[in-house]
Amino acid sequence: STPVRDRLRIAIQKSGRLAEPARALLASCGLSWRESRDRLFCYGESLPVDLLLVRDDDIPGLIADGVCDLGVVGRNVLLEQGGGRVGNGAAPAFREWRALGFGGCRLALAVPDAWDWQGPEQLTGKRIATSYPALLSQWLAGQGIAAEVVLLSGSVEIAPRLGQAEAICDLVSSGATLTANQLKPVMTLLESEAVLAGPVETLDAARGELAELLLRRLDGALRIRH
Ligand code: PRP
Ligand code: ZN
Ligand code: MG
Repeated sequence: STPVRDRLRIAIQKSGRLAEPARALLASCGLSWRESRDRLFCYGESLPVDLLLVRDDDIPGLIADGVCDLGVVGRNVLLEQGGGRVGNGAAPAFREWRALGFGGCRLALAVPDAWDWQGPEQLTGKRIATSYPALLSQWLAGQGIAAEVVLLSGSVEIAPRLGQAEAICDLVSSGATLTANQLKPVMTLLESEAVLAGPVETLDAARGELAELLLRRLDGALRIRH
C-alpha cells in the first residue's frame, strides 16, 4: 500500500511550450512555491500543493501510478496514452478535468506538397510516420484504411524526405515545421490544448479537498481570461 500523502502534487512540463503558461496559471490561483536546488520539485508555500517538473509524456503515467495527483499536459498526450492503455487492456486511470485555453494545436495528417490530395483512401498501403500511434491507428480504423504506422519519437516531419514514410501525423501549431519540410496538412485528427488531468477515481479526503479548492480558483481564473 502507498503511504498516505496529505499534500497535493501537480506535475507540469519542466521545459517546453506548456511549462511557463502552466506555472503562470497555477500562480494566478494563489499558489506559490519554494524551489529546490535541483529545480525538479517545488515545495508549495501558500498551500500544501507541490509541483513536480517532468517530461510531459511522463505525466499521464505519474497520475496512473498515484505518484502525482494532477497534471498539466496536452490533450494529445493524454488521449494517446489513454488509448494505448485501453488497447493493452488496462483500465482508464486518468482523464481530462478542465480545458485550460492555452497551448492550442492540432494533430494533423500531412502529405508532401506535391501530392494531389483526394481523400483518406489515398493512404491505403502507405507508411505514415507519427509519435501518436494509438490516435492514428484509431483514426485509420474509423476510416477503414489499412496503412502502416511508423513510430518515431520526434522529428517526424523529416521522415518523408528520408524515405521512411510517405505521410506523417504530428502536431501543428504555427505550421512552420510542415512548411519547412515541404508538407501540407490535409486532415485534422484532434484539436488539442493544455488540460488539467486528474485521476478517474476520486482523491482521498485531504487531497480531495485541496483539489476542490484549486478547481474553484482555477474556474475563477479561467472565467476572467475568457
Ligand atoms: C512540435 C510538433 C511539431 C511542431 C509543430 O514539436 O511535434 O514538430 O512542434 O509546431 P509548428 O507548427 O509551430 O511548427 P516540438 O518543437 O514541440 O518538439 P518535439 O517534436 O520534439 O516534441
Ligand atoms: Zn513531449
Ligand atoms: Mg516536433
